[in-house]
Amino acid sequence: MSNQKVNFKTEKEVQQAILQEKVRGTPDIEIGQKYGVTFRYIERLITQTHGLNISTLMGSKKIKSLHPKDFKEEQTTVWSFKQRGNWATHSGEYRGNWSPYIPRNVILKYSTPGELVLDYFCGAGTTAVECKLLGRKCIAVDINDKAIELAKKNVDFKIESQQLTFDHKESQLEVYEPELKVGDARDLSFLEDNSIDLICAHPPYANIIHYTDSREDDLSFLDLDDFLKEMSKVARESFRVLKPGRQCAILIGDTRRKKHVIPLGFQLINVYLDAGFKLRELVIKRQHNCKTTGFWYENSIKYNFLLLAHEYLPIFEKPRATIPLSIREREVEYDLAIPTLEKPPLKKRLDQLETTTVWIFPAKDFEERLNKNVIDRYSNGKGYSTIIFISHNNRESKFTGRGEKEKISLLFIKSPFLNNSTSYSNIENYLKELKNIIAQKLPNIDKDGFLVVQTQDVRINGYIEPLAKRVLDMLTLDNLWLKEIIVVTQEGINLNFINSPEYLKITHQYLLIYEVRK
Ligand SMILES: C[S@@+](CC[C@H](N)C(=O)[O-])C[C@H]1O[C@@H](n2cnc3c(N)ncnc32)[C@H](O)[C@@H]1O
Repeated sequence: MSNQKVNFKTEKEVQQAILQEKVRGTPDIEIGQKYGVTFRYIERLITQTHGLNISTLMGSKKIKSLHPKDFKEEQTTVWSFKQRGNWATHSGEYRGNWSPYIPRNVILKYSTPGELVLDYFCGAGTTAVECKLLGRKCIAVDINDKAIELAKKNVDFKIESQQLTFDHKESQLEVYEPELKVGDARDLSFLEDNSIDLICAHPPYANIIHYTDSREDDLSFLDLDDFLKEMSKVARESFRVLKPGRQCAILIGDTRRKKHVIPLGFQLINVYLDAGFKLRELVIKRQHNCKTTGFWYENSIKYNFLLLAHEYLPIFEKPRATIPLSIREREVEYDLAIPTLEKPPLKKRLDQLETTTVWIFPAKDFEERLNKNVIDRYSNGKGYSTIIFISHNNRESKFTGRGEKEKISLLFIKSPFLNNSTSYSNIENYLKELKNIIAQKLPNIDKDGFLVVQTQDVRINGYIEPLAKRVLDMLTLDNLWLKEIIVVTQEGINLNFINSPEYLKITHQYLLIYEVRK
């Protein structure tokens, strides 16, 4: 196809021509060049004319297989799917839909055949399709009637009970047709209290992708604060309808404003915790669509920011009963190796360092590689200080630079004691100490210097204490501006050592990067 622009008399004619190209399957990039329009224009045009945001108008798809090949359930807190998954009727057609590997893992881990799963942000019905394939009952609602129409098409396929995935050998497997309907996630009054076995949903993120053509009640049009306010209604309804002791999995990502991250993920976790939920797991879902070329990549180098390459999948639990305080507390002894730190670095080119928000290093030199990346990227080749918490109240400090009087460009705080299991009281102490130290040392950091806090989630009595979120909630000083939330993990984790099938192994840590403003 030629790349020449075509001249039409009216915009209507251009739009008709674009829609015909879409039906023929012409890629968006070619349409853009030929008609001189942007990707956003094409997206808006389809949403306006079809009432939903879909990438293709090419009609129905053929089913090649009913289940993914060589599927293995995830065992750690870092989930990464190189292919999005196209078994059964799944496809990437509905913009912003989630990979079917996510609901598949959640459904298999937290429900048994015949149980009832709820997805109140149904979209194209990915969760509903998975429920049908796995022998679970499903109720799915969406605010957009066109999305429900599409989801109904997607769940309309034949499957026999012997073709269902056999994860619970003792159970009688049956095929259940999902119940799909138009509805609002904030009002689940058609469901009784304590009636749902599992919630598995993927909300629209505050004003990022629009799912409808400006329909009232579509949460995808709300800005951050309103979005969180409306989601608190969803969280309260979730808590009401879920059975005690059962789980609610929600996928959410961060966003960026003025080259700084907005921690939407942690903010939404707070909303669900405020509704009464406990955090059973905090999974990191890696995203593989970050290119190392193009506009965003070039700008990320120019302005020293990273490409967002992860989302959060908090798995909440509605507690059965409150845990008595007496069994929570246990003081913990520490025994650990103190990580070594680099010599003062030369100013490095940013394009030689990690470029996204997920950093993966080999186990053998994990700590060294992590330190090097932090110091090279955030110390500007000047003096920096490191503080290492070797226990909740004991730490080592080190200055690396020319003279002790010099202002530093980076304060790097590490907390390796968190690798050992710890207690609620140690955690509270650690957070208090951390806050004091930061307040004390902040005046020594140069304007436009950085504070970097390395921390990790810990599991106490079966629930996750999300420490990166706790630190973030705590550091609300005016002169600290959150720049990045980075996830760090090791390459090639040996899964044979995982001996608790009930819980995921925590295999990631966080680097919270703050820019210091004076
Ligand atoms: C991220 S998409 C869900 C995609 C879905 N997981 C899939 O795989 O197709 C979010 C969905 O929320 C829907 N939505 C927006 N506001 C809603 C509301 N108040 N109640 C229910 N659904 C809503 C949008 O129409 C959109 O389909």
